[in-house]
Amino acid sequence: MLYNGEWNREELDYQALVNQWHVVALSEDVEASKPKAVRLLGEDLVLWRDESGQVNAWKDYCGHRGPKLSLGCVKQGQLECPYHGWRFNSQGDCTLVPAHPDRSGPSSERLIFRHFAEERYGYIWVCLEQPARSLPELPQWEDDAYRKVYAGPYYYKANALRALENFIDPSHFPFVHPNLNGLPDAPEPLKKYTVSLDERGLHSSEIAVFQPYGDHRGIPVNARYNYSILNPTTAYFKKKTGQIERFCTFFNATPVDEAECIIWLIVAINFGPDLTLEQILSRQNLVFEQDRHIVESQRPARLPLDPKAEMHVNSDRMGLEYRRWLKNLGEAARSRNLIQQNRSVSL
Ligand code: FES
Repeated sequence: MLYNGEWNREELDYQALVNQWHVVALSEDVEASKPKAVRLLGEDLVLWRDESGQVNAWKDYCGHRGPKLSLGCVKQGQLECPYHGWRFNSQGDCTLVPAHPDRSGPSSERLIFRHFAEERYGYIWVCLEQPARSLPELPQWEDDAYRKVYAGPYYYKANALRALENFIDPSHFPFVHPNLNGLPDAPEPLKKYTVSLDERGLHSSEIAVFQPYGDHRGIPVNARYNYSILNPTTAYFKKKTGQIERFCTFFNATPVDEAECIIWLIVAINFGPDLTLEQILSRQNLVFEQDRHIVESQRPARLPLDPKAEMHVNSDRMGLEYRRWLKNLGEAARSRNLIQQNRSVSL
């Protein structure tokens, strides 16, 4: 009814995402007194903090006359609409109609549309419908041996699932990141690896990759990657460059719309205390800029979930399993939604 995005809501890829958690903003970007507008899966949303500091994610819409609530403000822990000043508490109840201050506010049904919101790892996560999975884990978050650095956000005119598949695909390294993450004139064959699925998501076995520039220090390394896909738009790798050196990346891609995404990274490193923030960020910025123009050029823009679409070789195993997993998630969500629709029709 209020959906104004381009993504066909009946499609499996949309269905696979609508009841999953997605990063939409940094926690620090949602101030106490100011609502913030974001967009997720073609929906305009407003984020705001109530009197307890808790973040709320609502449709960016006031059902009285339809303006964006993000143009309003937060007063005494309640969201005030910019048009006629109606106030709403975190439950969505209208607590004040300034033109009729003595009367109780109208029912919030058809007035306010609430979604699910959580904060973790310095991010705000939103799920549009009842969450099917819990928030993903970043194993190094509590471990002080790891320095954590935020990189991005990177804005891609590309589909979030295409961007994630690129992140878990090391066979592009020599060509997209030449002389940094691989050698274009002597690309190393990838050894066969396996992919397993458990309740936390998909996980690859170790994948060996020669990297001529190593990790920020210009020393060639034989790196070993373990990839995980923890949610449809969250992935993670742990890279070993020796027996104890670990470089981990927690990747999130906000599916803003079907052909637009925002990439957020947390990098966790347990070596190189003398590495400067600039050294770490410039490497990430370069790599994600090199990826951007390739991922933005991919057609079709949306990731095909039919395993018979596009061609696959052994080194694509992780991407192929990702497509299968998304298809299964989408089919499960679609049949769940159909059951719910049938239930509400028969009530
Ligand atoms: Fe929101 Fe009137 S449009 S209070």
